[in-house]
Amino acid sequence: MDVLEAIQKRMSVRAYQNKPIPEEKLRKILEAARLAPSARNSQDYQLVVVRDQKIRKELAAGDTSESFVDTAPVVIVAVALKPEYIMPGGIPAHPVDIAIAIDHITLVAVKEGLGSCWIGGFNQERIKEILAIPEKYRVVVLLSLGYPAESPDRKARKPLREITSYDRFFE
Ligand SMILES: Cc1cc2nc3c(=O)[nH]c(=O)nc-3n(C[C@H](O)[C@H](O)[C@H](O)COP(=O)(O)O)c2cc1C
Repeated sequence: MDVLEAIQKRMSVRAYQNKPIPEEKLRKILEAARLAPSARNSQDYQLVVVRDQKIRKELAAGDTSESFVDTAPVVIVAVALKPEYIMPGGIPAHPVDIAIAIDHITLVAVKEGLGSCWIGGFNQERIKEILAIPEKYRVVVLLSLGYPAESPDRKARKPLREITSYDRFFE
């Protein structure tokens, strides 16, 4: 499967089979994150790979995050270790760095027959409590990962001309 094919096939999966992800698949997927580029090549994040069922249930409980994360055999919690670093352009590096790593994960997951879903809807303080993450760090995103138990409909995207311009900004 080439990269564009994986991009085309990836869709958010919000229901998973009750089946663990084999260790070597998980390693391969995490390796894709390790190889991701980052600002200053600093890789200032920790990907907390949650497999423990009790902890996954806690992550899914109440308004902590999406309830479907409960069904996923793996939930990756991406934690920024230097959320204070701002790039010269005035933009924090940590959400960019983590987004690249997580996107690598989602694409290799497709190749490995797995589905995933980004989760930005979570309770920062509650996740920190559950995973004993020190206050100075920042949870950026969660990703559920597992064998799909649903075939979601493909979402529409804007046409290319709406999201691109050539040679100058188009107002
Ligand atoms: C940064 C980010 C945060 C997201 N947060 C959530 C979320 O909290 N809950 C959820 O169900 N989906 C979430 N999604 C999934 C989006 O809704 C989904 O990617 C979008 O609707 C496009 O659908 P597709 O992924 O199937 O192509 C998030 C996606 C991104 C990239």
